[in-house]
Amino acid sequence: MKRKITIAFEEFDSVKNLSESDAWLMECAMDATDGAYAPYSHFRVGAALLLADGTVVVGSNQENVAYPSGLCAERTAIFAASAQRPDVRDYQALAIVGRNASGEYCEASPCGACRQVLMEYEKNQGHPMRVLCYLEGGRVRVFEKVADLLPFSFDF
Ligand code: THU
Repeated sequence: MKRKITIAFEEFDSVKNLSESDAWLMECAMDATDGAYAPYSHFRVGAALLLADGTVVVGSNQENVAYPSGLCAERTAIFAASAQRPDVRDYQALAIVGRNASGEYCEASPCGACRQVLMEYEKNQGHPMRVLCYLEGGRVRVFEKVADLLPFSFDF
C-alpha cells in the first residue's frame, strides 16, 4: 500500500509580518549570529529559543578544528536552556537564521541531528515547539511542531 505524508507550514513575506513575539524571537536569533565561532565554514547561525516563562535563550554555531566536535546553533541553544533552566524545560518556539561570509542574513534549516534533539524535548514537554526558519529574501517559514520536520524519527 502506498502512503503519503503531507507537511504543513506557513510562510511570511517578511519578519515584519510575523506576530510581535515571533518577530522579536527572530531578531534575537539574528543578533545571536554575532556569537558564532565559525572560522572554518564562515557561515554563522543564530538560534533563539522562547521558554514557557518568557525567557529567551540564544545559541550560535561553535566550530572546532576537529570538525565533528563543533556544535550547531540549535543544539547550543537548547542544551544551554536545558542545563541552565531545568526548572522550565518547556519550549514554545525556536527561531533560526544563517549569516553568510559577506554578513548577509540567509536561509537556515535545522540539520538532521538537531531535529532529532529538538524532537526529544518536544516529546518530553508534551506540546508542540514551533520552529521559525529565516528564508532567502527575508521571508520566514513557520512549522507548528518539530515533529513536522522529522517524520519517522528514531525512538525506543
Ligand atoms: N549549522 C548550524 O549551526 N545549524 C544548522 O542548522 C546547520 C548548520 C552550522 C554548523 C557549521 O558550523 C556551519 O553551520 C556550516 O555547516
